[in-house]
Amino acid sequence: MERVRIGIVGMGHRGVAWINTIRLEPLAEVVAVCERLPVRLEQGAVRAGLGADRAFAELDDMLTCSEVDAVAVNVEPEYIASVAERSLAAGKHVISEVPLAYTLEDCWRVVLATERSGLVFAMAEQRSYMPFVRAWRQLIQEGLLGKPLYGEAQYFHGLVNERVYLDEATGREISVEEAQGNPHARKNRPWNLVHPLWYSPHSLGPLLAVLGGRVTEVSCMSTRKQSYYREFMPIPDIEVAIMKHDDDCILRIACGFQSPSASPHHWQHLIGTLGEVETSRRLTAGSGQGGGSLLWLANHYTPGRSEVDWGFSEYQRGLPGAAVSGHGGSDLYPLHDFVECVLQGKTPLVDVYRAAEIAGPSVIAGHSADHGGRLLPVPDFRPGVHRPAGQAPAGVAL
Ligand SMILES: NC(=O)c1ccc[n+]([C@@H]2O[C@H](COP(=O)([O-])OP(=O)(O)OC[C@H]3O[C@@H](n4cnc5c(N)ncnc54)[C@H](O)[C@@H]3O)[C@@H](O)[C@H]2O)c1
Repeated sequence: MERVRIGIVGMGHRGVAWINTIRLEPLAEVVAVCERLPVRLEQGAVRAGLGADRAFAELDDMLTCSEVDAVAVNVEPEYIASVAERSLAAGKHVISEVPLAYTLEDCWRVVLATERSGLVFAMAEQRSYMPFVRAWRQLIQEGLLGKPLYGEAQYFHGLVNERVYLDEATGREISVEEAQGNPHARKNRPWNLVHPLWYSPHSLGPLLAVLGGRVTEVSCMSTRKQSYYREFMPIPDIEVAIMKHDDDCILRIACGFQSPSASPHHWQHLIGTLGEVETSRRLTAGSGQGGGSLLWLANHYTPGRSEVDWGFSEYQRGLPGAAVSGHGGSDLYPLHDFVECVLQGKTPLVDVYRAAEIAGPSVIAGHSADHGGRLLPVPDFRPGVHRPAGQAPAGVAL
C-alpha cells in the first residue's frame, strides 16, 4: 500500500472539513463517502469529486468496497462506536472523530473490536499534537518542571444559534427561529450532549498526552440540568470534574457548551514540583500558536511567570501544509499520524486505549454528576493479567 484510500462516513460540516484535510495529506486520498441524508450525500460527493458509484447511503455497502482501506468516522458521538466496530470487523483501519463514545459499553466496543481485528484505530484529537503539548512533555522529560502535581484544562464554547437544529431537506444547520414551522427541522447533535463533560477530549486529551498514564477515579459537579442561557436545552451550562491520575497527580477538567464564551475557548495549566506552565487565556493578534502563554521554572532564576510562545520553529518544524488545515492548523496532524501508522505498522499517539482513557473518565464524570459528585472508579482499558486482549471484561457482554 502506497497511499491510504479513505471512505468518510458522515457528511455534516465536520465530514466536509475532512475532505479538505485529506487533500492536504500526500499519502492519503478520499475514495468514497457515506451519508444517510440524501442531500448531504449528494453535496459531499460533489465536494469530494466522486461519482454516484462511490457515494453510499448505507455503511455496509461502502464497507464491501475493496478500494476502501480505511474509514474516517464523522458521525454523531453516540454512533461512533458502532460505525467503528462494523468498519474494523469489515477489515478497515479506522480513524474516528472525538469523543469516541457516550457510554462505557461503547468504549469497550471499540477497544475489543480493535484488539480482535489487529488493525489501526486512531481518534483524531488534534490538540494532543500541538506544540505546547510537545514542549511540556519535553520540559517534564528533561526534569525542568519536576514531578507533575496538578493539571487543569477547560473548554467553554457556546453553541451558536445557527446550529441548534438541522434542516433535513437542505442539510443545513439552522436556528430555533428557522426551525419553527419547518417540517424538515430536527434537533441537531448538541441536544444529545447530556453532560458537557462528555466532550472532554480537547481538554483531558492534551493533559494525558503530556503526562501519559490514566485517570483512576472521578468526581464531578454540574450546574442544574437546564441551561440558564438557553432555557429550552435540558443540559447544564457547566460541569467540573476532579480526576485522580495514576501518577499521583490531580486533574481538574471543566466543560460548558451553552452560554456564550470568550476566545480562546481552550485553556490548559500544569504545576510540577519545580515549575508551572499554562496556555494563553487571551486573544493574541499576529503571534504564533501560543502567544500569551506562561512559564515559570523555580530553579532557573525566574522570579515569576513569564510570557512564552509555544509554536513550531525553523528548528522544530511542523508538517508541511498543516497551517491551512482547520482548528488553527492542527487538523492535519492526527490524520498524518494515522496514515503513517497504517503504512508503517506503528501505533498512533491517540490509539484506542488513549481514546478510551479520555472518553471513559468523561462518561463516568457524567454518572458522578448525576449522583451528587460521588467518587467513582475508572476501569483499566488496557489488556494485562486481569484481561487478555480481545476478551471482554467481567460484566460486559460484547
Ligand atoms: N475534532 C474536532 O475538533 C471536532 C469538531 C467538530 C465536530 N467533531 C465531531 O465530528 C463528528 C461529526 O460532527 P458534525 O458536526 O459534522 O455532526 P453532524 O451531526 O452535523 O453530522 C453527522 C452526520 O453523520 C450522518 N450519519 C450518522 N450515522 C450514519 C451512518 N451510520 N451512515 C451514514 N451517515 C451517518 C448523519 O446523517 C449526519 O449527517 C461528531 O462526532 C463531533 O463530535 C469534532
